[in-house]
Amino acid sequence: MQHDTIAVVDFGGQYAHLIATKVRRLRVLAEIRQPEDPIEKFAGYKGVILSGSPALASQGEDDDFTKAIFDLPVPILGFCFGHQEIAKHYGGTVIHGGREWGRADMRIARPHPLFKGCGEVEQVFMSHFDSVVSVGPDFEELGYTTLGEGGHSHRFAAIGSDKLKRYGFQYHAEVDDTTHGGEMIANFVLDICGCKPSWTMEQYLEEQIEAVRKQVGDNSVFLLASGGVDSTVAAKLFGLAIGADRLHLLHVDNGLMRKGESAAVITMYKEMGLGRNLHFIDATDDFLGALAGVVEPERKRRIIGDTFVAVFEREAKRLGIEGHLLGQGTIYPDTIESGATRRADTIKTHHNRVPIIEAMIQAGKVVEPLSELYKVEVRELGERLGIPHDALWRHPFPGPGLGVRVLCSNGQADRAGIDALQTQVQALAAPFGLEARVLPIKSVGVKADLRSYEHPVVLTGDLPWDRLQEAVGSILKQVQGINRCLWNLGPQMFADAQPLPATMTKDRLDLCREADAIVMDGLRRHGIYDQVWQCPTALVPLSVDGKGRELVVVRPIQSERAMTATAANLPQALVAELRRDLLVLPGVSALAYDLTSKPPGTIEWE
Ligand code: XMP
Repeated sequence: MQHDTIAVVDFGGQYAHLIATKVRRLRVLAEIRQPEDPIEKFAGYKGVILSGSPALASQGEDDDFTKAIFDLPVPILGFCFGHQEIAKHYGGTVIHGGREWGRADMRIARPHPLFKGCGEVEQVFMSHFDSVVSVGPDFEELGYTTLGEGGHSHRFAAIGSDKLKRYGFQYHAEVDDTTHGGEMIANFVLDICGCKPSWTMEQYLEEQIEAVRKQVGDNSVFLLASGGVDSTVAAKLFGLAIGADRLHLLHVDNGLMRKGESAAVITMYKEMGLGRNLHFIDATDDFLGALAGVVEPERKRRIIGDTFVAVFEREAKRLGIEGHLLGQGTIYPDTIESGATRRADTIKTHHNRVPIIEAMIQAGKVVEPLSELYKVEVRELGERLGIPHDALWRHPFPGPGLGVRVLCSNGQADRAGIDALQTQVQALAAPFGLEARVLPIKSVGVKADLRSYEHPVVLTGDLPWDRLQEAVGSILKQVQGINRCLWNLGPQMFADAQPLPATMTKDRLDLCREADAIVMDGLRRHGIYDQVWQCPTALVPLSVDGKGRELVVVRPIQSERAMTATAANLPQALVAELRRDLLVLPGVSALAYDLTSKPPGTIEWE
């Protein structure tokens, strides 16, 4: 390994990414590893951090990970589930009980290098059902929490063995609610593991330029350049590495782009000095032809991914570009999430990870210089490369574009179990003065790291934002079978909502494009485009007015890494304008605001 690196073992999705991000902020590389990875994959790391997990250590859940990790000659730190597994492995006891939730005060038992820069009492964030109640012979208690005024103490909030260099925190040091969590992680990574902070963006850039030159040799790179942040940063990096002559950019209008987007992207690339071998193809007919009549979301995604490759190969041949490698702006979470591991359920097939591309990767035909970076790091690199602010801070737009925002249906209502759901949801909505309707369609979500395909519910009634959030939280937490909550912004009541037979047609795409343009203009006009991470607009084939006109859903979210997200609160004035401008679009009769966090929803509907 070129840099001192920490392995973060991913027992539970979002926690691991957050830990990796915090380590990387120290300029030390962190890589995500899966618990069942063979021990050889753990070679060369300077330390290991075991993440939290939704599994219960007390019940032996998720217990079949590579235990040889504990024989590694490097320090190990565990958080929550990881802490409990360390305690168990070295002779301690974990029981089901002693639940703590939220902020707690931890009293540090004795000064210890892990707590350098911390006070005697530290605010930590707890979220656990299981607890460590005893530790093995080499271990000591490093901290305990006290429960309220005069309350009894809750032991083993932090444990450690300096002899074995094994440590555990019951709390989550990676979340900001643990006030000095960053310091604790730094103490472990820099002092206990002895990592040198060498992983800087300048270095990363130099190394990638070198790696690209080596991989590409005398060949050329043909990059699918959508105009999104990742492919634009990749384009600039390839330009530096192999020069403009051997870099070909192909911008494909797949018919699933935003209004006026392809023209704007071409202009942007020219202005950035990337216009030399810039090719443009309008492949709308290829994509819409392949998608004709298809309604199932995962099939749509596969078709879009495959069609990209087919169009790319055809264009490469037509342009006489031979011996090329396929360049992609794939980033780290894409790589990790597509890892076919036990935990990584296929929530969605990303267009840059369809099987054909996987085969090309195996054959060494794909070059992806950003595959180790998170989005925030890609933007940092982009700034270093002089990419203009607007290009770097564009909202992320999924590769399959409006293909995942224009929902399709065979027109059959999915009513199995819907009456029971309706009764449960209405009972929870009523105390808030809301009317609830479970919709007879489904959308994709993610629950406990698994894909879900469940019903949305739409709530009607006027409430302040906080109360709406409370109602949504209560419904999503308590009702199995619901993964999305919408707030009704239109005049209709959804009582007779019926799915419409609908496929991916140009007319429907144009309608979604128009609605999206109205939403994007609104965000810019109100000066909040940069404050919202992303704001998809979905077209849902659900007739609410009995006249066959559709539902438009606006989904503003806040996020850091897109692994988790919360609904963003748009200004009232903007919401009123959206009502005014979207409900008059021909073909639209209903409008809703998606209030779902991720999990249990995903950001996109499909
Ligand atoms: P979800 O819907 O899974 O999306 O919560 C997380 C983030 O990824 C984007 N997204 C994609 N990006 N290819 C991409 O490049 C894809 O196939 C794809 N699907 C979703 C989504 O817009 C969000 O930012």
